[in-house]
Amino acid sequence: MSGSINDVKTFWDANPCQSTLSDQQDRKKYFEEITIHRCNGFDRYVPIIAKFENFKDYDILEIGCGIGTDGQEFSKNGARYVGIDLAPSSIKIAKERFELFNIKGKFVIANAEKSLPFPDNLFDHIYSFGVIHHSPNTEAIVEEMYRVLKPGGTFCVMIYNKSSINYYIEIMFLRKLLCRVIYPKFMLSVVSKITGFAEWKLRGHREIIIKKGNMSKEEWISINTDGPYCPLAKVYDKKEAFELFKIFEDLRMDVWGFDTSRWSFIGKLIPKSISHRLGRI
Ligand SMILES: C[S@@+](CC[C@H](N)C(=O)[O-])C[C@H]1O[C@@H](n2cnc3c(N)ncnc32)[C@H](O)[C@@H]1O
Repeated sequence: MSGSINDVKTFWDANPCQSTLSDQQDRKKYFEEITIHRCNGFDRYVPIIAKFENFKDYDILEIGCGIGTDGQEFSKNGARYVGIDLAPSSIKIAKERFELFNIKGKFVIANAEKSLPFPDNLFDHIYSFGVIHHSPNTEAIVEEMYRVLKPGGTFCVMIYNKSSINYYIEIMFLRKLLCRVIYPKFMLSVVSKITGFAEWKLRGHREIIIKKGNMSKEEWISINTDGPYCPLAKVYDKKEAFELFKIFEDLRMDVWGFDTSRWSFIGKLIPKSISHRLGRI
């Protein structure tokens, strides 16, 4: 695992994002349940930031569309929607979803770092949720966004926030302590019971920590956001985020989402109103 684009593709192809959020056998119900989860679960702020209903008759590109959950909302609300993703498995599921619900959309398997298969100035709006921080050459994706976006067009991109409780307290402090505790194998089930973390995830962390020994900050972040086998994840503070998108004009940044599910029983004790407020800090 080196965090190369091939590793990124292999990982997401084997783990299509959101695809395990429902185990319904009926495929329509399966997709509906995933949408409900998106709008009511931890990601319930997505409709607020994505503003699905604002793009009727707009040409929209979604970069890293995954299994088409947000794409479905854009298309349902009248946007001319194109979704691209690196992972063929996600594109296959997204196509199935659009066909099943009889909604319009185009899908392309593509690496957004390389020349996207679109002419310059094509799209009115670009949307990308939780994608570009998983790609080795994030800057190249931003350049491609600039190229295919019409002058005066808009974009909405979600990237991981470094200036957060999850980063400084959970990932860089608590998880570093915890990884020492799970060194003895028998502690895996003990820690899993106490913290509520899935045992397979803890086992994965233990294997990687033992195999790699000392890890760089980048490697540590990568294995502590989307599970132990995620090959690459980056985080950005406000200055870094503005620097990344400096090619664009009129930038605005918001902070959303404090994931209480990562805080075991403490997370369960935090009222939704408080976790919502924490997520906005
Ligand atoms: C965390 S998932 C998010 C998927 C979707 N946006 C969602 O919120 O469910 C990250 C997605 O980004 C895609 N991805 C990562 N790097 C990419 C790249 N360079 N070009 C296109 N897609 C990429 C992955 O294949 C994966 O489907």
